[in-house]
Amino acid sequence: MIGECDALRGVQDDLAKIAPTRASVLVTGESGTGKELVARALHRQSGRDGPFVAVNCGAIAPELLASHLFGHERGSFTGAASRHVGLFEQAHGGTLFLDEVAEMPPPLQVYLLRVLETGLLTRVGGTESIAFDARVIAATNRDPMVAIDEGRLREDLFYRLADFIVVLPPLRSRGDDRLLLANHFIDRFNAEHGADKRLSRESLHVLHGYDWPGNVRELRSAIQRACILGDGDRVDLHEPPPHPVGGEAEADSVNFRVGMSYAEVEREMLLKTLARYGNDKTRTARALGVSVRTIHNQLGRREG
Ligand SMILES: Nc1ncnc2c1ncn2[C@@H]1O[C@H](COP(=O)(O)OP(=O)(O)O)[C@@H](O)[C@H]1O
Ligand SMILES: [Mg+2]
Repeated sequence: MIGECDALRGVQDDLAKIAPTRASVLVTGESGTGKELVARALHRQSGRDGPFVAVNCGAIAPELLASHLFGHERGSFTGAASRHVGLFEQAHGGTLFLDEVAEMPPPLQVYLLRVLETGLLTRVGGTESIAFDARVIAATNRDPMVAIDEGRLREDLFYRLADFIVVLPPLRSRGDDRLLLANHFIDRFNAEHGADKRLSRESLHVLHGYDWPGNVRELRSAIQRACILGDGDRVDLHEPPPHPVGGEAEADSVNFRVGMSYAEVEREMLLKTLARYGNDKTRTARALGVSVRTIHNQLGRREG
């Protein structure tokens, strides 16, 4: 983990102390700040020799998440042709990384809490209690307190997951770490391609002036692009074009005017939510609290 600002040094010190223990860790920070990197570092320094298993709770259809995590017995639901060992069991002796944990449906959070408290799980459609040995590390890019207020994250689960909270600051507040990271990614490119590229002086303005909403991930790909496109040994960072329509705040809000019909309000809300979740109808349905069928019906009505 590259970083010498106070926040990152603090994180690194904490990791070394927390890693060898059984304490639970919740990693928070905007997307691209290095949450998964922290989880992997905790695993590496834990001395546990089982695998590191990662699952993005927001990317799996809610109705499949339980069987993904806890496994299922043959025939437990339509399509369950054979027995499946879940990720909890696959991470035996190692670490299970529950990414985007606040996106997990609340009923499943209740079950997860019980599993963590008892150290026992039951596969979907099964009756046997199975002991598992996986260290759980969770992450979210939401503020956990806000997620609790909004009813997304259960408070009791939060306390169980967060013996320690590791907070990763956004890249824009990491001072000179931006330069360290940029040079680190350039060194890596040079090593891989036998090149000898260097960041141009002009790039420093961009590095320090731009706000890097995609954080380290965005910086890494900007550097990679600049290394590939740059002539000779110069790496020239260019400020990316402004985000589409006024940035995330705009993309995440809907404008209602008095005089709009409920049908229009619904349609606006649906389209914005779909756009927010990259047209993923399952996640859209979950966010709106309706069934996927309702989404299809509404889209059909619109198109028809
Ligand atoms: N401090 C850091 N030093 C080096 N690389 C980093 C650092 N933080 C993040 N990265 C890199 O940036 C990318 C995004 O990190 P990741 O852990 O996936 O972020 P998140 O899970 O918070 O979205 C990865 O390629 C990761 O290796
Ligand atoms: Mg991630």
